[in-house]
Amino acid sequence: MCGIIGYIGSRKAANILWDGLKRLEYRGYDSAGICTINNNHILIEKDVGKLEEIQNKINFNSMNGNVGISHCRWATHGKVTKENAHPHCDNNNKISIVHNGIIENFQELKERLIKKGHKFKSMTDTEVVVHLIADNYNGSIEEATRKALKQIDGSYALGIVCANEPDKLIAARNESPLIVGLGEGENFIASDVPAILKHTNKVIYLDNNEMAVLTKDNVTIKNNNGEIIHKKIAEIDWDSELAEKAGYRHFMLKEIHEQPRAITETLNGRIENGNINLANELNLNEGELKRINRIIIVACGTSWHAALAGEFMLEELAKIPVEVEYASEFRYRNPIVNEDTLVIAISQSGETADTLAAIREAKKKNANVLSIVNAKGSSISREADSVLYTYAGPEIGVASTKAFTTQLIVLYLFTLYMSNIRNSLNKETIRDLIGKLRKLPLEMETLLTEDKGIKKIADIYKDKNNALFLGRGINFPIALEGALKLKEVSYIHAEGYPAAEMKHGPIALIDKNMPVVVLATKDVYTYKKVLGNIQEVKARGGIVIAIATEGDEEIRKIADYVFYIPRTLYILSSILSVVPLQLLAYYAATDRNLDPDKPRNLSKSVTVE
Ligand code: AGP
Repeated sequence: MCGIIGYIGSRKAANILWDGLKRLEYRGYDSAGICTINNNHILIEKDVGKLEEIQNKINFNSMNGNVGISHCRWATHGKVTKENAHPHCDNNNKISIVHNGIIENFQELKERLIKKGHKFKSMTDTEVVVHLIADNYNGSIEEATRKALKQIDGSYALGIVCANEPDKLIAARNESPLIVGLGEGENFIASDVPAILKHTNKVIYLDNNEMAVLTKDNVTIKNNNGEIIHKKIAEIDWDSELAEKAGYRHFMLKEIHEQPRAITETLNGRIENGNINLANELNLNEGELKRINRIIIVACGTSWHAALAGEFMLEELAKIPVEVEYASEFRYRNPIVNEDTLVIAISQSGETADTLAAIREAKKKNANVLSIVNAKGSSISREADSVLYTYAGPEIGVASTKAFTTQLIVLYLFTLYMSNIRNSLNKETIRDLIGKLRKLPLEMETLLTEDKGIKKIADIYKDKNNALFLGRGINFPIALEGALKLKEVSYIHAEGYPAAEMKHGPIALIDKNMPVVVLATKDVYTYKKVLGNIQEVKARGGIVIAIATEGDEEIRKIADYVFYIPRTLYILSSILSVVPLQLLAYYAATDRNLDPDKPRNLSKSVTVE
């Protein structure tokens, strides 16, 4: 998830562009750069590292010019290097581009352009676009861009400048967000409002397949056929602190709502022609993966809950024995591990001390280590033998939300990939499972847009100090995650249990002061048993909040509150089921006037033992 800003006006572009990038740093970055046009020459400065590191290496103040583009990169195609950082330019140094998104057909375009004599400096998909525009340039940067876009498949938010036409700034959007900011004698483009709110609160939200041609005094919006479109001008009424949260009161709520996009970006480029394609991200080839006879997953906290869900997926579908270990236990237990063991380490930050120590222990014992990480270039992602990134973008809220659901997505992708290699599922079944996976972002979007009264249900917790979360099968880790979310942001003591465990102790706790959330989505195995568990709670005067499958009328007769989720595959329903639990925790915290982004005693990454 990269950040883009562009400026055209009478002021010095470089300062405005760099300041704007710093307001997008929540989008994450591993490199950044700026391009301005001065006296019909392209100036580009870029480097790897965090913004404050780059700022010390490059003197952006020396970059003159009143038009420019800038970019902070969260690498998708091509490693984190200076050459792969944006902006990119053509071989004649006349056209420069910044891009957020994924060009699906970049390889074939690149081969075609190389045959025509274009020379590439980077491994990125983005650089193909600037060469394609140059290849079509015939005196109009707008026309050349339009012709290039007609040949591109994929998602993009683009900022483009041309040394021959310094009075223009071009923007184009398909899937990746891009806005136009309208100033007085100056205009802007940006990935998100925070980057330009300091200069204007009048914005136009570009829609898919739309292009904007900006001069310092005018903005024209066109469709990809060049026809002018009239767009509404929105007025943003946020203060700048709110702007960084894109209008949400807290990062936690913003990140809960970012999950559909985070899942889409995590899926991007990993499903091709009905198959899962992870080969170029793994260091084990198919033969080596077939030889793996045991998987151990190590993690902490929320990532450990994802690991438990991953165990269910891998054993159920890929038929591989899996054990899940707290990283802090694994590292001191002298575990039995060898070269036929795959150790998977899951970590949002990629810096959790116990998880890092666990993979070092595993590598000492010749296990192959795969990491599932969100933070690019973090220690765990570098020290593991390979890494499958979640593309959730930086997670600012201490309570992990979008990182968790994208961890489940990566585990599901890896499960299907292994199922195919090990023939534990036939191709038809895998294609069907992939089809259901592709629908998940939209199902989650529906869940988040329709107000299902979760805020009202959260009122239950106002005067409560204890809570229980129950689930069976893959919903047991979801119950654990719901309990962790509630306790870490609202300070209500909450426990998660396998629903069947009720009778072995926890049922002694049940009364009207112990709200019980029950994950009761329909599955072939345990749904009826879960109904029985709900009856047990009700029989003792407990309050039951059920998370159920859309259309299930039976559950409405016995639960006090029901939150429905869209009907989908049982395994995938667990990814949807966690969303109401995240929202319950968020509202329970705000009802108590607590700041869910900064819970007491907690830090975002536990880099100490
Ligand atoms: C989750 O909401 C917590 N913030 C915490 O349990 C976290 O999941 C745990 O510290 C592991 O962090 P990691 O994923 O960055 O390794």
